[in-house]
Amino acid sequence: MKAMVLLAKDQPLVFEEVDRPIPEAGEVLINVKAAALNHRDVWILKGLYAGIKYPIILGSDGSGISEDGRRVVINPSINWGVDPRVQGKSYHILGLPADGTFAEFVKVPSESVFDMPAHLNFTEGAAFPLAGLTAYRALFSKGEATAGQRVLVTGVGGGVALMAMQFAVAAGCEVWVTSGSEEKIERAKAMGARGGINYRSSDWAKKLLELSGGFDVIIDSAVGDGFADLVNILTLPAGRVVFYGATTLGNIQGVKPAVVFWKQISIIGSTMGNPKEFADMLTFVEKHGIKPVVDEVFALKDVNAAMRKMDEGKQFGKLVLSI
Ligand SMILES: NC(=O)c1ccc[n+]([C@@H]2O[C@H](COP(=O)([O-])OP(=O)(O)OC[C@H]3O[C@@H](n4cnc5c(N)ncnc54)[C@H](OP(=O)(O)O)[C@@H]3O)[C@@H](O)[C@H]2O)c1
Repeated sequence: MKAMVLLAKDQPLVFEEVDRPIPEAGEVLINVKAAALNHRDVWILKGLYAGIKYPIILGSDGSGISEDGRRVVINPSINWGVDPRVQGKSYHILGLPADGTFAEFVKVPSESVFDMPAHLNFTEGAAFPLAGLTAYRALFSKGEATAGQRVLVTGVGGGVALMAMQFAVAAGCEVWVTSGSEEKIERAKAMGARGGINYRSSDWAKKLLELSGGFDVIIDSAVGDGFADLVNILTLPAGRVVFYGATTLGNIQGVKPAVVFWKQISIIGSTMGNPKEFADMLTFVEKHGIKPVVDEVFALKDVNAAMRKMDEGKQFGKLVLSI
């Protein structure tokens, strides 16, 4: 089968003919029709991820056809374990250490395969799994966002962030966004966000607080220098700031402890999600007829151009590979 293989750090992925995977007991083979990129793939390419091995077929997101002919999506959260709160020791994410979806076929545990929501095509189906699961857990399970609450999603151009915004809008929250791009803010507003501000502008947090009146829930994946500002604009009672990434590679600094304990603020980390959350996310997506925003579709062999686009942050929504 054809696959895009990573052979070494910082090298372009190579289009290769490799053996079709042979499923073991409890596994199934999926004929991949579309795969999507996540920032994780870029971190692995750059050597900035734990447990990297070569050669590896990257790709955590995929949609396709199962051996029994169903249209399916793959839950990339493999072997979650028995505790719904936290993943167990044998947990891993599809696409490292196990070969992923940037290939014509992938083998996965049978419990990782879910019927694709009927209103989605393969491109849209591939765009959902990792970002949708991460957004769903961060927003609802950890952030406890409910209708009428005011939610801020930072860096809305990101794959997870944009999905969090769509989910929050669908749930009836009042949603605000930040972005490094005015155009992305306007696009978010066209999709239901109440307003937004450029995180590169001076005094952005102060201005955002004035415009919005403060937040119940903030969903972030940038961390770094702006994080203390996020805590400061969490002014509604018992606010929650949930972060699932650290894109700026900065540490959390400058948060005033008294602000956190006096305002009953929760600073919460979140990663991926458990199988029930994945199923619940698909049900939510189907119920609200949500379609992911697909920024661009590339051919499998053009994955390196897609990786560059993600690294440069030029996308709005998901970058998908057609296979
Ligand atoms: N823990 C988990 O389970 C999990 C799951 C998925 C992702 N992640 C991590 O979460 C991060 C985002 O992943 P992704 O796949 O959604 O990546 P992505 O699509 O590449 O999005 C990254 C976004 O970060 C935003 N950003 C950059 N600098 C920022 C800043 N200073 N303040 C606010 N936003 C900023 C940009 O938004 P604009 O374009 O709007 O400026 C950019 O689009 C990555 O670090 C990834 O590794 C973790």
